[in-house]
Amino acid sequence: MLLKTLFHLHLSFLLIFTSQAAVQDFCVGDLSAPEGPAGYSCKSPAKVTVNDFVYSGLAGVGNTSNLIKAAVSPAFSAQFPALNGLGLSIARLDLAPGGVVPMHTHPGGSELLLVVDGSICAGFISSANKIYFKTLYKGDLMVFPQGLLHFQVNAGKGPALAFVSFSSPSPGLQILDFALFANDLPTELIHDTTFLDEAQIKKLKGVLGGTN
Ligand SMILES: *[C@@H]1O[C@H](CO)[C@@H](O)[C@H](O)[C@H]1NC(C)=O
Repeated sequence: MLLKTLFHLHLSFLLIFTSQAAVQDFCVGDLSAPEGPAGYSCKSPAKVTVNDFVYSGLAGVGNTSNLIKAAVSPAFSAQFPALNGLGLSIARLDLAPGGVVPMHTHPGGSELLLVVDGSICAGFISSANKIYFKTLYKGDLMVFPQGLLHFQVNAGKGPALAFVSFSSPSPGLQILDFALFANDLPTELIHDTTFLDEAQIKKLKGVLGGTN
């Protein structure tokens, strides 16, 4: 009986020890070192203060004076290092009238959009090439599964505001038109790989700052 109790005690100490060793409350990112696949390394916990856990960068309206009339203000681990290792992040999306977030993907995470003001037509394309899109209004949520191409377009006459959260502290962003037309990928190769005609490719390169 005594032996059995001792054994159980020993076992529970082992379990407590193991779970304590495995759990870390937080790992505020140390941005002075490069980001790896698992995120940033940790800032020394002794140097962490409450201010590491607070980020005020999404309070203001983003600058939508640009080609897409849209501003995405990220609070990813690069801006808000306390998110490092926690598996989530958020961004603010401002859309001026006529604003659009062109077709894009986030390789690293799924996205949950909440419309706070105005209305937004949003959609995604599945890998079976089925389109799912809808006009969303204040209070509506829509989810965009990880890695799939998706878009948001201001569907109203006034500005629209949304917040988008991600299942990754660093979800990444690749905009399809920028990938195709904002760099020096040769026009001929774009034609070969997309079947778009060269005049259209050159026109879009001109608008988006691409060459070749
Ligand atoms: C917004 O961005 C435009 C274009 O980059 C710039 O000219 C303008 O000064 C910016 N406005 C503000 C308020 O920062």
